[in-house]
Parts: sequence; C-alpha cells; structure tokens
Amino acid sequence: MKKTHAYVDNWKQAYQDNTGLLLFGDVGTGKSFFAGCIANALLDRDIPVLMTNFPSILNRLTGMFSEDRADFIASLGMYDLLIIDDLGVERNTEYAMEQMFHVIDCRYRSRKPMIITTNLKLDEIKNPPDLAHARIYDRILERCAPILFDGKNFREENAETTKAAAKGLYPKNETGNRQIGVFPRRHRRGIRERSI
Ligand SMILES: Nc1ncnc2c1ncn2[C@@H]1O[C@H](COP(=O)(O)OP(=O)(O)OP(=O)(O)O)[C@@H](O)[C@H]1O
Ligand SMILES: [Mg+2]
Repeated sequence: MKKTHAYVDNWKQAYQDNTGLLLFGDVGTGKSFFAGCIANALLDRDIPVLMTNFPSILNRLTGMFSEDRADFIASLGMYDLLIIDDLGVERNTEYAMEQMFHVIDCRYRSRKPMIITTNLKLDEIKNPPDLAHARIYDRILERCAPILFDGKNFREENAETTKAAAKGLYPKNETGNRQIGVFPRRHRRGIRERSI
C-alpha cells in the first residue's frame, strides 16, 4: 500500500523516468485492486490512464485491417499510464504473441510508463519458455519494478461475508430450517424439465 501511495505521490518523477510497476503474486492478493487505485488517483488529477488486459486488446484487434490494428496499438500511446491487468492469461497462439509484442514494444518505444499485474512468478518472467515470450518479458522487466503481493487471498475472506449475507436472505420455516427454492409451481415445473 505504501509503495502504491508513493507511486502516485511521485507520479511526475515516475512519468519522467518512465518507471513502471510489475505487480505479481497469487490470486486474490489485491494486485488489480491496487492497480485500480493508482488509476483512480491519477484520473482524479486528469491524467489519462487506461486499464485493460490482453484478451480485451486482442478482441478489439480481431477483425481489424492491419493498418487499423497499427493505429489502434499506437492510440494506446495517448495514455500517460497504461495498465495491463492479468498478463499471462491470454492464449499463446502465434497471433496473440505477435500482437502482445507489438503492444508492449510500442509502449516501450513511446517511453511512457506501464503497470502490469500478473499471477506469473518472477522466476517464470525471468526465464521465459521461448523467444516470443522473452522479447515481451525482457522489455517489461527493464521498465517495470517488481512488487511481490504475498499477502492473504482477500476473496476467501469475502466469500465468508457473502455466505453470511446469503443466510440472511433465506427465511427460516416453522421447523427452524432455512427454506430455499420456494418458486411458484409453474416455475418449479420449468426448472425440473430443463434440468432433465
Ligand atoms: N487491501 C485490500 N483490502 C480489502 N480488500 C481488498 C484489498 N485488496 C483487494 N481487495 C479485494 O480482494 C479481492 C481480490 O482483489 P484483486 O482482484 O485485486 O486480486 P488480484 O491479486 O488481482 O487477483 P487475481 O490474481 O486473481 O487477478 C477484490 O474483491 C478486492 O476488492
Ligand atoms: Mg487481478
């Protein structure tokens, strides 16, 4: 939390030096949350920020003509900060790797910072499986300072709260048990037929 605060407080310097962040760690540890906090804090100061991920970028690129693809990738340079959430979840097809390389390389050459979040281990990023990954990860490691998220999985805690909240939704019947699935007969029939 201190590091993300410091990043926002020293944004001008970070922008000038093209200093990005690589937020890595296990699921639910708050990487996207903190990346979102940085985005919100900078947007509040009218600094253009885009938070996206590779599956969305690849979706946008699919079906575009190649010159439009280049324009779209170049347009990401309009943002002072580009946040790419969840690096490593995208498909490893030749096409996806090529487009990912274009996005990262374009950002790298624009000399503007990026923040990456990922479940990949630092070791995996430092020792990529092939040249296609190496070309992407090498640029990220040069420009993004790694921060390990090694705390608890917040989702587990949230799941308990969800369960407790759901309990309050089910009324207790006369036997003291919670009654669920009290649909009118016509709906029950529909549900049974569908489940068969
Ligand atoms: N510091 C925090 N305090 C309380 N809740 C938090 C905190 N950070 C994150 N959370 C909550 O925990 C949940 C998981 O956070 P988040 O999605 O950021 O995890 P993540 O590390 O990006 O996970 P994944 O690797 O699966 O993408 C979210 O519901 C988020 O709002
Ligand atoms: Mg996340």
